Amino acid sequence: MSEHDEILEMAIGLAHEAGAIQRDRYETALTIETKSAPVDLVTEVDKACEALIVSAIERDRPADAIVAEEGGGTDHADAAWRWIIDPLDGTTNFAHGYPRFCVSIGIQEAGEAAVGVVYDPLLDELFTAIRGKGAYRNGKAISVSMETDLSRGLMATGFAYDRRKSERDNVEQFKEFLKTAGAMRRDGSAALDLCYVAAGRLDGYWELKLSPWDVAAGLLIVEEAGGKTSDTAGGNDHWSGKHVVASNGHLHEPMLEVLARVAS
Ligand code: IPD
Ligand code: CA
Ligand code: CA
Repeated sequence: MSEHDEILEMAIGLAHEAGAIQRDRYETALTIETKSAPVDLVTEVDKACEALIVSAIERDRPADAIVAEEGGGTDHADAAWRWIIDPLDGTTNFAHGYPRFCVSIGIQEAGEAAVGVVYDPLLDELFTAIRGKGAYRNGKAISVSMETDLSRGLMATGFAYDRRKSERDNVEQFKEFLKTAGAMRRDGSAALDLCYVAAGRLDGYWELKLSPWDVAAGLLIVEEAGGKTSDTAGGNDHWSGKHVVASNGHLHEPMLEVLARVAS
């Protein structure tokens, strides 16, 4: 078994374990705190899932670097492998009993996305990819949609937690897509939005002001499903999460044109 396969297997095991915690605690009484803004929530389940994942990596792969949303683990600039973890993507949904959230684990090798795992515990859907080896849903190969016409495309986005205070948002861009695309969705989990582009359920997705853990797994899964990813100017600064576009490829340029028409 290659090291990529071993890491994939370990990440799948951890995503399943964290997902089981989420399934057990879904629609139960939760301790909910706020982070960067009153609408930026964190629950004890986010923390428990992160602790589980981080402690297993520290135990079994102590040389690996870890970047995790709730602050667990230690990043080392010179590590060969870096785990980038969103223990619960879709916390607002989870806290409201809205059934759309997941565990997202992306692993970089020498700074490049190498392995991605996203697990939706309620649907029991596992999205996986290893760089160069395709993308899978529950072990079955997936590919992006064939849609070539933006006016028929199903598009998704999300809105940042600083939206009450910041003037820089994607509301005008949303409006422009609403007028030009087939239909729009905002479903509250960036990692699942990306996997839905990969699986051909969405034709395109963009979002601003995300973080590396929101996109580390999903972007690789889109690319391995034959899709295209970039930042909102068509460049390569999207792995930071600051401005992300993912599409089936056919709609990438049309999406970038809409985004260029309406500055954020
Ligand atoms: C959030 C979700 C949401 C996106 C937010 C993210 P969290 O992650 O992915 O869809 O719009 O900006 O921060 O906070 O639930 O892990
Ligand atoms: Ca997230
Ligand atoms: Ca999260």
